[in-house]
Formats: sequence, structure tokens, C-alpha cells
Amino acid sequence: MSILTNESEFKVLIEKELIPNVNLKSERPNNPIVVKNIPEGWKCIGSGNYAAVFIHHSEPNVVVKVYGKDLDGLEKEVQVYKQLGEHPAYSKLIQFGEKYLVLKRLEGITLYNALANGDRIPESVIKDVNIALKYAISRGLNPYDVHGKNVMMKDGRGYVVDISDFYKKGKDEKWEDLVKAYYKLYKKTLYKVPIKIPLKFLDFTRHSYRFYKKLKRKI
Ligand SMILES: Nc1ncnc2c1ncn2[C@@H]1O[C@H](COP(=O)(O)OP(=O)(O)O)[C@@H](O)[C@H]1O
Ligand SMILES: [Mg+2]
Repeated sequence: MSILTNESEFKVLIEKELIPNVNLKSERPNNPIVVKNIPEGWKCIGSGNYAAVFIHHSEPNVVVKVYGKDLDGLEKEVQVYKQLGEHPAYSKLIQFGEKYLVLKRLEGITLYNALANGDRIPESVIKDVNIALKYAISRGLNPYDVHGKNVMMKDGRGYVVDISDFYKKGKDEKWEDLVKAYYKLYKKTLYKVPIKIPLKFLDFTRHSYRFYKKLKRKI
């Protein structure tokens, strides 16, 4: 049984209401898509470098991921979900169109937002994601671009919310580096006394990390 209550009606809502009206702009590369003109009944719950993610009150169990650029990426994401199969730490592909995917909704917040809110990130979240990534490898995928905005947590459980780059080749060290920072830094400081980290500081850290990695590759 589908987690959608009315598949065909929802498809019409997406294709006739959401997509034609919503405005997605990529203002700067490596910064999330900026969303304007959200039609009534819809809410944007997040955005990344490629897409913005919406929910509609009539179908609370799913999200609609609308691509703002790189439609090739959408096709790849469909393939990745098919190859991944089902696993509790991942979302699931429900349906898709030319510019959008309908995915199972994951509850909770991203690790990035947990730091911003001053919510403690338990070790079980890190462990769940490690297990989930091993599972992806066992399905022939390559965990790529796994970072604080692509991982969510809810009630001490970890979830990987964005697998769109798992088809890529090569080694991506973001998750490994995040795990190192978790044990070397976070567990000794914020874990003990969770305080809210300003978004500006989190973004500064994100950009500095990218810069440092680029520099390291050149040396
Ligand atoms: N299945 C989902 N359930 C709940 N929230 C989601 C889901 N997919 C994405 N999101 C939210 O939307 C944001 C952007 O989605 P993401 O797939 O990472 O887009 P991009 O591929 O552009 O990076 C995520 O950081 C997360 O906050
Ligand atoms: Mg993302």
C-alpha cells in the first residue's frame, strides 16, 4: 500500500499548482537554492544546492523535492533510490516527474539545525549513519556528500536524507571528517553543554572546510 492517500490527485497538485508557481533561484554556487512564491497549502521545509523540498497538508507522509537546476541529477537520484532498496535509515522514492521526486518524509531535524538549536546529538545517531552507509556500499553505491545538512536525527536515531550523489566515483571525506570532529571536539564540549551555534558561524565553518579541502587537494 502506498503512503500516499491519493496518488493521482497529488500528482495534479504538484504539476499544476506547485511547479508552475514556485520560483527557485540559485543565487550563488555552493549555497542553497532560494525559494520564492510558494503556493498556498505548501510549505518549504529545506533546500540544498540542487533542489528545494516541500510538504503539502493533504499528504503529510511525503515530501516533494523540486529540482531548480541539474535535471540530469534528478534522473541519477531516481536510479540511486532504485539501487538502494529499502532501509530504515533512508527515505524511499514514491513517484517522480520531470522536475520533481516524491519521497517518504523523514521526521526530525538535520544535524546542522541541531547545532543551531543547541540540541544534543547523541552518539547513536552517528552509529546509525555509519551502519546506513555500510549498507549503501553493500548495494554497490558510494556514500558521497554526506554532511550535516544531509543527515537528520529523531529520538536518537540517525537518517540519511540526501543520497543524490551516491552514484559518484571517488572518495568523499565529509562524513569521515564529521565523525572525527564529533569524537575529538564535539563530545568533549558541546555534547556536555549544548549551546546554540549561530547560523553565521556554522556557515563560516562550512565555507572554511570547503576552502581547506580544496587547498589540501592542490598541495
Ligand atoms: N525525505 C525528506 N524528509 C524530510 N526532509 C527532507 C527530506 N528530503 C530533504 N529534506 C530536507 O530538505 C533539505 C534539502 O534536501 P536535499 O535532498 O538535501 O537537497 P539537495 O540535493 O539540493 O542538497 C534537507 O537538508 C532536509 O532538510
Ligand atoms: Mg543536500
